[in-house]
Amino acid sequence: MGILIISPGRDLKRWTDALQAEDPSVPLLFPDQVQNPDKITFALAWDHPSGIFRNYPNLRCISSFGAGVDHLINDADIPPHIRFVRIIDPLLSNDMFEFTLAVVMKYLRKLSLYCRYQGKSTWKKHAYLRMADVCIGVMGTGVIGNHVATGLKKAGFRVCGWGRGPGRKTAYKRYHGRTQLRDFLSSSNILVNLLPLTSKTLGIINSNLLTSLPHGAYLVNLGRGAHVVEEDLIRAIDSGHVSGAHLDVFDPEPLPGHHPFWTHPGIDISPHVASLTDPGSVAPQVMENYYRNMQNKPLMNMVSRELEY
Ligand code: GLV
Repeated sequence: MGILIISPGRDLKRWTDALQAEDPSVPLLFPDQVQNPDKITFALAWDHPSGIFRNYPNLRCISSFGAGVDHLINDADIPPHIRFVRIIDPLLSNDMFEFTLAVVMKYLRKLSLYCRYQGKSTWKKHAYLRMADVCIGVMGTGVIGNHVATGLKKAGFRVCGWGRGPGRKTAYKRYHGRTQLRDFLSSSNILVNLLPLTSKTLGIINSNLLTSLPHGAYLVNLGRGAHVVEEDLIRAIDSGHVSGAHLDVFDPEPLPGHHPFWTHPGIDISPHVASLTDPGSVAPQVMENYYRNMQNKPLMNMVSRELEY
C-alpha cells in the first residue's frame, strides 16, 4: 500500500507536497523507505535504475512522471503483466505549444544570430522571414502534437502534420503512414518532432529524412534525442541543405560537455525544458490511477506496450 516514487536526481518536494495535498492518507515511499516490498503495487517513476522493479514482486502498475514512457518500455526487466500509464495534461500540451511558438519565432526573426552578435558588439541587420513564408510540419500528432499543430494553425501559420494512422479530422492537413511521409516532409519548411520514441521511430531523423525536407528547412527536436542520427544532422546543416536546428532533447542527457552540438553555429540548445510536468496539475490523475490500480479497475492514460506509447 502506498505510492513508490523513483526519480533519481529530481527534487521531489513539489511532487510529494502535491500528492499529499491530493490525499494525505496515501503513504509516499522512496526505495530506501520500503520495509515490505511485497506490499508495493503502484510506482511513479522516471529514469529508474534498470532492474529496480524486480525488487517489488506484486507491482501491477507504473506511472511515468511525464508524457514519455520510453524509459519504461526499454527496461526488459519489467514483466509484461505490469501496466504502464503516462501523463496527459492540458498544461503539459500547452507549455509545449508555447515553447514551439517561441522557437519558431526565434528562427524566423534570426534572434539567435543577434544574441551571438551581441557577444561581439556587432551591429548588423539581416532580412527576416514572415509567418506566411513557411509551412510548419509537426511530426507526431498524438495529444501533444495535435495541440501544438492546432495552436500554430490558430496563430496564423500554415501547418501540416504526420502520424502513424489515418486518425481523426484535424484543423490542419494531416499525412499518415510511411507512404505519405515524403509528401509531408517536402511540405515542411520547419519540422517539429514530437513523436514518441519507439523501436519504429528510433533514428527516424536521419539523412534520408533530412534530404526529403525542402532546401533550407529548419529542425526543432522536442521528442527524444535518440530520434536523431547526430552525424547525419551535422552533415545536413554543414551542407546547407538544413539551415539549422533547435534541440531540446539529447541522448544521453545531460548532453556531454565535449559534444559538437554545443559549439555548432547552426544549432541552438535548451536543456529538455520545452514542457515540464506540473506536479499540482497532474497529482489528481496519479492518485486516481493509484485508486483504480488498488481496485483492479481500468486505468487512465494507459500505454499500449505493443505500440510502445
Ligand atoms: C518529457 O520529456 C516527458 O516525456 O514528459
